[in-house]
Amino acid sequence: MSLIRIVVGSTRPVRVGDQVAHAVGLLLEEVTGATTEIVDLRDLDLPLLDEPKMPALGGYVHEHTKRWSALVDESDAIVLVTPQYNGGYPAPLKNAIDYLYREWHGKPMLVVSYGGRGGGMAAAQLVGVLGVVGADLVTDPVQITLRRASYGVDGRLVAPEADIETVASELQAAGEALAKELRAR
Ligand SMILES: Cc1cc2nc3c(=O)[nH]c(=O)nc-3n(C[C@H](O)[C@H](O)[C@H](O)COP(=O)(O)O)c2cc1C
Repeated sequence: MSLIRIVVGSTRPVRVGDQVAHAVGLLLEEVTGATTEIVDLRDLDLPLLDEPKMPALGGYVHEHTKRWSALVDESDAIVLVTPQYNGGYPAPLKNAIDYLYREWHGKPMLVVSYGGRGGGMAAAQLVGVLGVVGADLVTDPVQITLRRASYGVDGRLVAPEADIETVASELQAAGEALAKELRAR
């Protein structure tokens, strides 16, 4: 069975990224028949890039890099779930991408962004960067709009499934594109 790893791109102590990633994962599991697993950058706790060699040259010396490299390598596809911060995507996500290089090449990937207006600027930045590292984006980013009413007083989403429902057809199509790519490999 294929394994899709879903990366939570937000590391804030109070955040919604984990909720969005979880809801996206459930839907993608249904559509693709693959297993999904959450990779939380907050738990991964990568320092700011501290490998002595350029990642493109390999030769990683740190355990945290080897662990992250294996998580990407040993997945059939990767979904990046990103919020939009000031028109871009969060620094920890860029740091995590920059740690690796070869691992991204040809990796089937999907970008899911969220924000007040869907996080399209963050998604567009990610698409550019993933193009440089040679990832295989299976389709355009899926953008989830989170309204003010989506948030509870605790800063968490009240009903993440309902927020995801607004882009159900896009996620369905993205899942089908992922599944098609996984079958072709
Ligand atoms: C530093 C920061 C910058 C933000 N900038 C934007 C923005 O440019 N556009 C937007 O729609 N929302 C913006 N927001 C609101 C976020 O989309 C919203 O807080 C979202 O819940 C963040 O994801 P997270 O809770 O998983 O970290 C920003 C939030 C933060 C914390």
